[in-house]
Amino acid sequence: MRHFLSVNQLRVEEIYSILETAEDYRNKPVNLNKQLFAANLFFEPSTRTKMSFIVAQRKLGLEILDFHSESSSVLKGESLYDTARTFESIGSNLLIVRHHSDSWFEELDDRISIPVINAGAGKEEHPTQCMLDLLTIYQEFGTIEGLKVVIVGDIKHSRVARSNAFALRKLGADVHLCAAPGFEDDELDFPYISIDEAVEICDVVILLRIQHERHLHKAETSDYLQLYGLTKERERKMKNQAIILHPAPINRGVEIDTDLVECGRSRIFKQMENGVFVRMAIMMTVLNEWGIINNENNFKACKTLAAN
Ligand code: CP
Repeated sequence: MRHFLSVNQLRVEEIYSILETAEDYRNKPVNLNKQLFAANLFFEPSTRTKMSFIVAQRKLGLEILDFHSESSSVLKGESLYDTARTFESIGSNLLIVRHHSDSWFEELDDRISIPVINAGAGKEEHPTQCMLDLLTIYQEFGTIEGLKVVIVGDIKHSRVARSNAFALRKLGADVHLCAAPGFEDDELDFPYISIDEAVEICDVVILLRIQHERHLHKAETSDYLQLYGLTKERERKMKNQAIILHPAPINRGVEIDTDLVECGRSRIFKQMENGVFVRMAIMMTVLNEWGIINNENNFKACKTLAAN
């Protein structure tokens, strides 16, 4: 029995099955018609991930147990494990967790008897963001294999960089990284290129936010756009069909010129739209794999997962 903690845990065909299931859900309403509870345990701020999980849960007919760590018994010292066990005890069927620890799931893993979905782990993993990024790229090119992709920005502090780099390579993309001095991560075994080379050779440019909240000292960003960001001049040098992604929130005028946020190449708001359907597919997949639901007609993905 598996939780959804990393895209690394999935085989290539499982990844594509979830993407196809997400596309199905865009066009076909699906409702569980069964009382099931999902708890959203966000210990870090979130707009997109939390709200798109809520929309996805409502579309599926799940009952939502909303949780606000700042008004919960976490303030009395309750641990993540005890919080999760509490939700399990009172009848939650599914946990969605975002936490500042890189490895919070080690605290839960074998000790929780309901599925857990990783909605962000420190600077280590953001697998549902990764899946919606994959869907956005797949919609555009009909494949991921052979694409040149660059991930640009604060690589060192980004969970999106890690999840995406490994998943894209697994799917056959040619992955490069691009970072300002101090933002590189030597633990990631991918080639670094300059932003000027990146825009000329890549099909997909994934920009990252400077993660000020994970820095010891606030980074100086007054000349960041000109030196390392996506300016209008650089955008004009991109390949005809190349697209721009960003997980958001965006530091407008820092990693990207504000006029490019909604330009013809930008898929930034498409990514957010895709997040709803991808999260529907992931929740349905794990609920089915755990035997909490059993409706094969609704899933392409579940058949593959169940076969493992
Ligand atoms: N991309 C992303 O994770 O955004 P939020 O922090 O708003 O959820």
